[in-house]
Amino acid sequence: MADKLIIFDTTLRDGEQSPGASMTKDEKLRIARQLERMKVDVIEAGFAASSNGDFECIKAIAHAIKDSVVCSLARANDRDIARAAEALHGGAATRIHVFIATSALHMEKKLRMTPEQVYEQAKLSVRFARKLSGDVEFSPEDGYRSDPDFLCRVIEAAIHEGATTINVPDTVGYAIPELYGGFIKSLRERIPNSDKAVWSVHCHNDLGMAVANSLAGVQLGGARQIECTINGLGERAGNCSLEEVVMALRTRRDYFGLELGIDTTQIVPASRLVSQTTGFVVQPNKAIVGANAFAHASGIHQDGVLKARDTYEIMRAEDVGWSTNKIVLGKLSGRNAFRQRLQELGIELDSEAEVNATFAKFKELADRKSDIFDEDILALVMDESVTSQHEHYRLLSLSQASETGKRPHAKVAFLAGATQREAESDGNGPVDASVKAIESVLHSGAEMLLYSVNAITSGSTESQGEVTIRLQLGGRVVNGVGADPDIVVASAKAYLSALNKLESKVERVSAQG
Ligand code: KIV
Ligand code: ZN
Repeated sequence: MADKLIIFDTTLRDGEQSPGASMTKDEKLRIARQLERMKVDVIEAGFAASSNGDFECIKAIAHAIKDSVVCSLARANDRDIARAAEALHGGAATRIHVFIATSALHMEKKLRMTPEQVYEQAKLSVRFARKLSGDVEFSPEDGYRSDPDFLCRVIEAAIHEGATTINVPDTVGYAIPELYGGFIKSLRERIPNSDKAVWSVHCHNDLGMAVANSLAGVQLGGARQIECTINGLGERAGNCSLEEVVMALRTRRDYFGLELGIDTTQIVPASRLVSQTTGFVVQPNKAIVGANAFAHASGIHQDGVLKARDTYEIMRAEDVGWSTNKIVLGKLSGRNAFRQRLQELGIELDSEAEVNATFAKFKELADRKSDIFDEDILALVMDESVTSQHEHYRLLSLSQASETGKRPHAKVAFLAGATQREAESDGNGPVDASVKAIESVLHSGAEMLLYSVNAITSGSTESQGEVTIRLQLGGRVVNGVGADPDIVVASAKAYLSALNKLESKVERVSAQG
């Protein structure tokens, strides 16, 4: 039988460390459920000691998820580890993931500890974690840039104390595939008790090689767990992308020969969910999940694919979930059909009131847009989850006038808490006028770092526009997302959504901090 490869998803922890990607508890729960549906082996749900908010998210996820192991990150100290165990308590299958930096640079400059102190702390913390959990992962942070002799000592001690998984992070994305694969191989050969743990790879994408390095860690190094994120989300250039690494292993099973538990048809829905939730747009030419990943524009390619699909396609679009772009509901669809489609999409709304509010929005949308696709429903639900929980600002109405040769003008009415605000402004275009109108009364002073518009369902002007706006204020970066068939309205919603996120100040300790 082929070896099993464990897929460890860290979208909700390392992915969320990406500036502006922070998520609410409900958003994290929804993503965790989608990861479970995709049959991910391990879900790293967060870093319990980093904030009370993250603690509550992990707790909720550990209670909700039954078919994947739920994991919390912890620094190598008793307080963090106890907090992780407390958050995971009662979960069906859980893991504590302990880390401490082992590179000379990190030990001296960041931790201000001697190698001996780090060695002792690694040893004692794994010992303590094993008292609280039978499943303990140990990561020497910046492992790839660590002195190999020292790393061997630390890892040997961690395994001796009961670590069941050893993860070797390339924290700064410095590795080269052949060298990283060789590094893992040599650690496994040199450490006498290496066969007592599962070996894992964790690669960042600073040189664009996270997927290649992870695959080399598996193929050359013998690792049997890959840590990755949906859409490659993560700090700086991100982490190893789940969809790419999984489809490489599956498409080239002839070469890798490894068994995977993943239901790949859930990949595109997961990608859409993560990008709509975080506001991190997927580039059109991104492998597997980009809008163009299976589009053949040139006549020669189209002709070839029509004659024999495998002339230009090495994977089938439907195998990764690209089959959803079909009409699912319309103006005449009733509450039951709507509720059933929510169920089929795996969306669980918390209360009858939420179902009713979302259904009302669906009816409103169906009056303006003839065909409703799964992507539209997902956008509605995202919008509703923002609306019902922590929305301080909320768009009420917007009108705008633009005409060739005249300066566009916009009038906006919105709620700020319980107070209705109205404002108007002109601008370079109607979107600019709407944003300036909102700013003319709120004076947030936030700097706009990104404005992007995408069609939610591809290929037609009938689609809803999905706008992402990234704002920066006082060192914080947030993303707001808004969807509407009218892109000016979608833009105003996105702007207010970003301001809402700036309002809710969630403080977190970063794992790489
Ligand atoms: O990149 C890294 O080193 C990490 C560790 C905390 C595992 O994310
Ligand atoms: Zn990382």
